[in-house]
Amino acid sequence: MKDSILILDFGSQYTQVIARRIRECRVYSQILAFDTPAERIREINPSGIILSGGPSSVYQDDAPLPDSRIFDLSIPVVGICYGLQVIGRILGGKIESCDQREYGKGTLRVTDSKCRLFDALSAEFQVWNSHGDKLTEFPDGFNSVAETENSPNAVIENRDRQIFGLQFHPEVVHTPCGKEIISNFVHGICGCIGDWTMENYIDEAVAAIRKQVGNEKIILGLSGGVDSSVAAALIHRAVGDQLACIFVNNGLLRAREDEVVREVFGKHFALKLHYEEATAFFLDRLQGVVDPEEKRKIIGNTFITVFENATRKVGQSKFLAQGTLYPDIIESVPIAGNPAAMIKSHHNVGGLPENMDFELVEPLKCLFKDEVRELGLELGLPEEMIHRHPFPGPGLAVRILGEVTPGRCEILRNADTIVIEEMKKSKWYYKVWQSFAVLLPVRSVGVMGDERTYDYTIALRIVESQDGMTADWVKLPYEVLETISSRITSEVQGVNRVCLDISSKPPATIEWE
Ligand code: XMP
Repeated sequence: MKDSILILDFGSQYTQVIARRIRECRVYSQILAFDTPAERIREINPSGIILSGGPSSVYQDDAPLPDSRIFDLSIPVVGICYGLQVIGRILGGKIESCDQREYGKGTLRVTDSKCRLFDALSAEFQVWNSHGDKLTEFPDGFNSVAETENSPNAVIENRDRQIFGLQFHPEVVHTPCGKEIISNFVHGICGCIGDWTMENYIDEAVAAIRKQVGNEKIILGLSGGVDSSVAAALIHRAVGDQLACIFVNNGLLRAREDEVVREVFGKHFALKLHYEEATAFFLDRLQGVVDPEEKRKIIGNTFITVFENATRKVGQSKFLAQGTLYPDIIESVPIAGNPAAMIKSHHNVGGLPENMDFELVEPLKCLFKDEVRELGLELGLPEEMIHRHPFPGPGLAVRILGEVTPGRCEILRNADTIVIEEMKKSKWYYKVWQSFAVLLPVRSVGVMGDERTYDYTIALRIVESQDGMTADWVKLPYEVLETISSRITSEVQGVNRVCLDISSKPPATIEWE
């Protein structure tokens, strides 16, 4: 049984960040709802428990509280922010509202360096606060071990029972030594050895896939995106030719996408690849459609039809593999004000209906995206494929405003190729979240040589983001923008004007449709 840390989620926007920080310490972490019963936790037998922050106040009527028996399991516990207040409330301390909400950077002064959370740390360091309540009376057996200007009980400890509370957030980058504090907890206090690596995960996953699948066949829809590519490589490592991948060319892909997939998977990995050419079928169904939601629906439904057809051609199989990731399956805590609970419904396009008659194989479902990338590299996938920007399921269609036609696809594909080329050449590509071209349905007057033109406009969308939920536009150097613009207007027939999208998300979204 491998070491693990369990995080109970009280609705903080940072819960997943805590989980990632622990994984960065090479220790497996999982997130469960705040009210997970102690029996279930005992079964999981984690090496440590973290109580996340959250937007509530512990004395609110409907305040989320854990099963109080979690403190009797003899497992070390750390409460972060709201988690500290939970400890205070359940174990008999007192929490009061701060006169002034403490928000932003602060300085933490360690008053008892014997607390093992501070091993090898200096006596004073910067932390990030975000709380409106504070602990004013200790529960039995607890002492303060660090203070901030406004709070004498910024870190509390019950040394005998190995229960700790931090009023600040160690998981965010604004607490520069937060990673060391987390490492001190998981390694020093909980005794985890740190053997959660993608190299080890391959062996574990291969064994699990073989056990699940036996001698049966598996199919997988390969899009060329990071997740399905890594899933394909991993499953192929486990069961070889029992896996058949289906690649659907919907005519809405970036330039050379289909070639690259055939080269990497068909030739390099030599896996069974069924190539389904469906460009005409998709574009036919999209004829005359301009409404973004309708486009998405048509593409989603058409994909299902085409994919189902292709599965019949590939032959009977019992299993369907999917590149589902951990953030897709974590149950968000339905607490008001929890941004993580927002559902991005339109992102389900490209998914398959639940009633398809397959058992699912989801070998990435306990991994975060950065782990999937690391795994892909371990499996020998090319860097370029692993570090490419996200690309929406409905493809270029949601970047062509107005009707999607073969001609417009061609224009956008050519412009997009230039954007990617120049971003890579200037070394900006890997520094940003996404960079792409959008084809606007407006035409304007221009002049080329002696001729008047009346052509389309391309908008450049280049954004930075952590997870796509919020985003900011990137301030690219003028020289890079200049090269992109002049190349597009001179090389892409049908375009005579290039604009830069300088909107953040919110209020805009990243994609235009
Ligand atoms: P928005 O436009 O909502 O996009 O700000 C946020 C992120 O999600 C990607 N996106 C999609 N990904 N299927 C996907 O797999 C989709 O239908 C889809 N729509 C948007 C988008 O590229 C951005 O990274």
